[in-house]
Amino acid sequence: MDTSDDTNPVYSREIHTYVLRAGRMTEAQKRDYVIHSARWCIPFQERIINYTDIFENTNPVTVEIGFGMGKATAIIASDNPDRNYIGIEVHRAGVGRLLGEIERRGLTNLRIIEHDALEVLAYMLPDNSVSAFHIFFPDPWPKKRHFKRRLVQRPRTDLLARKLSCGGYLYMATDWEPYAESACQELQATPTLINNHEGYAPRQQWRPETRFEEKGLKASHNIYELLFTKRDGEACRE
Ligand SMILES: C[S@@+](CC[C@H](N)C(=O)[O-])C[C@H]1O[C@@H](n2cnc3c(N)ncnc32)[C@H](O)[C@@H]1O
Repeated sequence: MDTSDDTNPVYSREIHTYVLRAGRMTEAQKRDYVIHSARWCIPFQERIINYTDIFENTNPVTVEIGFGMGKATAIIASDNPDRNYIGIEVHRAGVGRLLGEIERRGLTNLRIIEHDALEVLAYMLPDNSVSAFHIFFPDPWPKKRHFKRRLVQRPRTDLLARKLSCGGYLYMATDWEPYAESACQELQATPTLINNHEGYAPRQQWRPETRFEEKGLKASHNIYELLFTKRDGEACRE
């Protein structure tokens, strides 16, 4: 079990990688949240979950951290019915919005966990079990005093790597160049991960544009993509 340490936390109840926004939910989001969360949300628990029980199949599982309003999440799940998806988000309006999409699209391969992803990883996901992590436009935390809140840094990347299955990948996209640079270094320094490319990856054509990407593009930002794979080795078999 990973616990936090004051100087270098994996997760900590004080230093979060997110800020809980007070943003209002629309009536539709409230309604979808009330009606559909029992069916499609997995409650946070301090116990390892069983994917086969949840999805009633043994398809590979992709975990998306911080899906926001879930626009890309729903499209990707809909395009890949032979894969399972777990979206993790703390922002309730986004959870309501994605629940509505699950229903509208008739998706059966997507579940939501409304909780801090780092605690979900530490408590709920088995080691060597996740075939892919999607991290699209994570909060960039541009101020130096907030760098400790960034999600893609060690030792958090060690936790992500531990949860990946052998050959599984971690895919991050961001429009914040300094974060892209530091995340690339942190992922490169994570022992069990290998960069699939020299530096940044080319645009992954299958990834739909996300809401935060749209904002970044409007501000004339470039988009940086990182694609790392968990190497075969002892770590995969522990
Ligand atoms: C900048 S937004 C990007 C949203 C979406 N991926 C997009 O590209 O439009 C980052 C999202 O990550 C969520 N987030 C950050 N850290 C998280 C964590 N530890 N657990 C769950 N969600 C988190 C935030 O609540 C926020 O909605």
